[in-house]
Amino acid sequence: MKRAKPIVAIDGPVGAGKSTVARKLAWALGFAYLNTGAMYRALAIAAREAGVSPGDADVEARLKLVLDSIRIRFDGERILLDDHDVTAAITEPEMSELASQFSAIGAVRARMRDLQREAGAAGGVVMEGRDIGTVIFPDAEFKFFLSADVKVRARRRFEELRAKGAAITLHEVLEQLIERDRRDRDRELAPLKQADDAIAIDTTNFSADDVAAAMKKKIDAIINGGKDLKRA
Ligand code: DC
Repeated sequence: MKRAKPIVAIDGPVGAGKSTVARKLAWALGFAYLNTGAMYRALAIAAREAGVSPGDADVEARLKLVLDSIRIRFDGERILLDDHDVTAAITEPEMSELASQFSAIGAVRARMRDLQREAGAAGGVVMEGRDIGTVIFPDAEFKFFLSADVKVRARRRFEELRAKGAAITLHEVLEQLIERDRRDRDRELAPLKQADDAIAIDTTNFSADDVAAAMKKKIDAIINGGKDLKRA
């Protein structure tokens, strides 16, 4: 192992349960938890404040200026944009949409890659996103790819949004989710896909507790038993 502690990479589409599972797993392992989607969302807030739109002809150059002028960092699970706590603001549906569109742009991905590699370099972290096991840390010691039936994913997301008082229907959530999935998978740079050496887990019929426990068992078996990941 090149690092003092391992890196656990968790990738997958919207609503596959990544955040809940990653948080539980990090707690169980005593690792830090890093939600990379939150970083794209924080950028979306900064870009919106700067008046940048996905349709701008010079969107990439404008986003570069924004990236050069902001600081995104975590304080535990809170995310700070410069010194403002944007943990709640990043969950707005508008930020989901903007983050999804801006995340296809090269300058954005390059900056996020550098920030994320720096944040995870020492290991001892559960990092969640779309391209952690494929691009950010292709040498992560543990890689998981979570998926679930699209209708179940939409319902999970719908319930999350409804709990926050959002005025949206299940059908609208399903349509938005399908569109974001398509964009994440079809983009040219770092598209959402399962790494060849990732363990795939379908979370459709399992609770987040069950999934996190199963992942922890695999990790413990390898760390303690020195077994090969794919055979564990
Ligand atoms: O995980 P999330 O839904 O909060 O992520 C918001 C958007 O950011 C998502 O539509 C795609 C993008 N994203 C990405 O491209 N790469 C990551 N590692 C994480 C998120």
